[in-house]
Amino acid sequence: MIDRQGLEPGQPSDPAGEPSPGLPRHVAIIMDGNGRWATARGLPRVEGHRRGVEALRRTLRAAREIGIEIVTVYSFSSENWSRPPAEVSFLMGLLKRFIRNDLAELHEAGVRVRIAGDRQDLAPDIAHLLVEAEALTAANQRQTLVVAFNYGSRQEIAAAARSLAEEVAAGRRDPASITPEAIEARLSTAGIPDPDLIIRTSGEERLSNFLLWQAAYSELVFQPILWPDYGREALVEALAEYGRRERRFGGLATAAGA
Ligand code: IPE
Ligand code: IPE
Ligand code: MG
Repeated sequence: MIDRQGLEPGQPSDPAGEPSPGLPRHVAIIMDGNGRWATARGLPRVEGHRRGVEALRRTLRAAREIGIEIVTVYSFSSENWSRPPAEVSFLMGLLKRFIRNDLAELHEAGVRVRIAGDRQDLAPDIAHLLVEAEALTAANQRQTLVVAFNYGSRQEIAAAARSLAEEVAAGRRDPASITPEAIEARLSTAGIPDPDLIIRTSGEERLSNFLLWQAAYSELVFQPILWPDYGREALVEALAEYGRRERRFGGLATAAGA
């Protein structure tokens, strides 16, 4: 039923050439359902987060094998600070462990790591690790991994508007020069192409303040699977669903326009 053509291991896109046709260039994932996965098993919620990191590793490996050029993962939202302090500090510890344990593998695999989100109020040790991860991998070209951490799309757009307003107030910018491109260049995803596909797991069908600007023409795929159960098979299903979509960007279908 699932069209797996071109998605089998050993058939990644040609690293030096064009990606396989029908594959999204940029896949963004809202990794949701860790808490429910744990609760359903009578485990503490944090166990779901721990298992969620394993799912992330599996999924990133599969995405590399398949030849996805850019993967963005939503790991902690600006609003997730409202969770109980013990859960928040567990999630902070998990990010630190993920970077310490997995950075070398990502670097060896040729992955460039970028962090999207507000770094200002982060603990100094976390902020330092994020800088280190970006610096170490800056020249890598096989894949880009964007980790959205302490990320909120409205906050990001407000910050971009503020920075443009400051330039106008200082007389350095003409308001007429505030274009979508000028705003895009001030987002924490500046320079990264918009996601072609946004996946959300757990059955929730909303964006929860994720990439609101960048998602203007993204295809959205909602999968009922809880994040700790995610891996290659679920990713391949989402990619197959993406392959069945027709993207029009406000224009006409290719056949109709031909
Ligand atoms: C996603 O899982 C991970 C984070 C938001 C950090 P949740 O923790 O939101 O899991 P549910 O949605 O409560 O099941
Ligand atoms: C979105 O999930 C944030 C992450 C996956 C990191 P949430 O679980 O926080 O979103 P809501 O509260 O269900 O909308
Ligand atoms: Mg959730």
